[in-house]
Amino acid sequence: MGGKIKRNFFCGNLRVEHEGKEVCLAGWVQTRRDLGGLIFVDLRDRSGVVQVVFNPEKKEAFEKADKIRSEYVIAVKGKVFKRPEENVNPKIPTGYIEVIGEELEILSVAKTPPFAIEDNVKVDESIRLKYRYLDLRRPKMQHNLIFRSKVNKAIRDFLDENGFLEIETPILTKSTPEGARDFLVPSRLNPGEFYALPQSPQLFKQILMVSGLERYYQIARCFRDEDLRADRQPEFTQLDIEMSFVDVEDVIALNEKLIKYVVERVTGNQIEIPFSRMTYKEAMEKYGSDKPDTRFGMEMVDVSDIVENTDFKVFSQAVKGGGCVKGLNIKKGGEIFSRRQIDELVEKSKEFGAKGLAWINITSEEIKSPIAKFFDEETLKQIIDKLQGEIGDLLIFVADTDAELAMTSLGSLRIYLGKTLNLIDKDKLNFLWITEFPLLEYSQEEKRFVARHHPFTSPMDEDIPLLETDPAKVRSKAYDIILNGTELGGGSIRIHDAALQKKMFEVLGFSEERAERNFGFLLKAFEYGTPPHGGIAYGLDRMIMLLLGLESIRDCIAFPKTQNASCLMTEAPNEVDIKQLKELHIQVKI
Ligand code: AMO
Ligand code: AMP
Repeated sequence: MGGKIKRNFFCGNLRVEHEGKEVCLAGWVQTRRDLGGLIFVDLRDRSGVVQVVFNPEKKEAFEKADKIRSEYVIAVKGKVFKRPEENVNPKIPTGYIEVIGEELEILSVAKTPPFAIEDNVKVDESIRLKYRYLDLRRPKMQHNLIFRSKVNKAIRDFLDENGFLEIETPILTKSTPEGARDFLVPSRLNPGEFYALPQSPQLFKQILMVSGLERYYQIARCFRDEDLRADRQPEFTQLDIEMSFVDVEDVIALNEKLIKYVVERVTGNQIEIPFSRMTYKEAMEKYGSDKPDTRFGMEMVDVSDIVENTDFKVFSQAVKGGGCVKGLNIKKGGEIFSRRQIDELVEKSKEFGAKGLAWINITSEEIKSPIAKFFDEETLKQIIDKLQGEIGDLLIFVADTDAELAMTSLGSLRIYLGKTLNLIDKDKLNFLWITEFPLLEYSQEEKRFVARHHPFTSPMDEDIPLLETDPAKVRSKAYDIILNGTELGGGSIRIHDAALQKKMFEVLGFSEERAERNFGFLLKAFEYGTPPHGGIAYGLDRMIMLLLGLESIRDCIAFPKTQNASCLMTEAPNEVDIKQLKELHIQVKI
């Protein structure tokens, strides 16, 4: 520190037990008030705020105190006193004491900040991001970053104790297809050639297993040029893990211990393991989502078999056309929703992709429903019974020849209802594994199967024969971990058998030549003795966001990007000199 007052205490740590102690503090001026000939300064450092009082008896310090303004950086020497009863502020931890200032040093002056440095300021996020250094001074933001640092530390401690090595992998690497769009970096030394920034360390971590490192982890920066949302950034951080000689159960068991360790250490909440599990199929059928929020019930029910042969064409044709009819029971919904609100719900369902929404309102007098007339009494009873409908309930249904669309649209409506009807217990941390994902999905755009996870994910042993006959039915050894309806992480057991890998590329319509061009280095490595291996990667930003109950991952990233992937503080991305472009053999055409 430049001045002569050398800090020996943190503002936020002072308590009654320090009464009489002489302390040197340093920090930022939160507020300065002139009251009855005394000057009161709230002094803030990372640990919190303490009140410092200057009186005219200490002339020099008092005169300096008169000059200081908000956000000046000062150092203070003074003595800790108990506050008189009437001045106690029980709302802050240091509210029972104050420091009577004896010396004051102004270390730096400050302009008036564009917004007050305090929590709950009503200021546009763009201003916060532009002046991020000021935004990060706010106690809440400091808390978020401190918490994040503790999570990292706990992760490292656990993985180190469990035999994992922290190994860094390249940022300038090779562009590989499948997955999101790459960020490219032109190579000056190799004209016309490009590196890509890694979307994840996936191929490197597998190579590390071939190298015999056995247990790897990394807190790795990943880059994906995709459209952004509240829980997505173009550059984000993964906790990336890979292990050798393991199967699905080993990876799951280790990761449950890891999460328990980390969450218990940083939050104090008790975490029960093992976590619940659900297959992909069950998740889709009950929740219409591969990342179900299980903090509330309202599970979907299939009524296809009941309505298949009825006169209501919308339903019967959906089922006969290979689709399904899904319903859910909004308990007491009939009492909550007015007719107009039901119509709004129908409109909402269309936003989620449903072609329509049918409903049955079970009132005490009668059954109100635009579709009841299509069913005989017995069928109607069967439908209501299957959804466990009681007086006051509102039953809603989506039918579609595309079964997945019927499930996902009603699933989205379920989440919407969970939020609007306040059914979600915000204090819960519901961890859930989703297993047995389909290995492949058909891409209408490319007219071929693409890997759902990535081309190195292993099929389930019993489904391998289906690769030849019915690839769409093959389930994989992939798993996702879900927390409160958000995908926290995902991974898989990889293919380590050359023949199976070759088969996989065939199914994906990759020629040998193309597989060689894109992943040649990995395939080659696999020829030299590959252990069975698998792993997982967590979105670390998302994990922190959920543990802290934040709305956006931007609030736990020191310097995040905006919706259009720019940084308002540095103004990146920006134009560069023609000279720089020339060196890179690049010409810009807009
Ligand atoms: P995946 O692509 O599922 O798997 O990514 C793992 C986790 O990373 C988080 N995530 C993101 N977080 C913030 N912004 C983004 N743009 C973003 N994209 C993904 C999610 C996701 O669950 N290599 C594989 C893992 C493996 O197989 O081991 C992988 O990257 O929380
Ligand atoms: P219609 O015969 O088109 O008047 O539809 C009768 C009822 O079925 C209306 O309440 C529609 O909202 C509902 N409906 C229409 N299409 C679907 C669908 N795909 N799934 C569920 N309900 C639907």
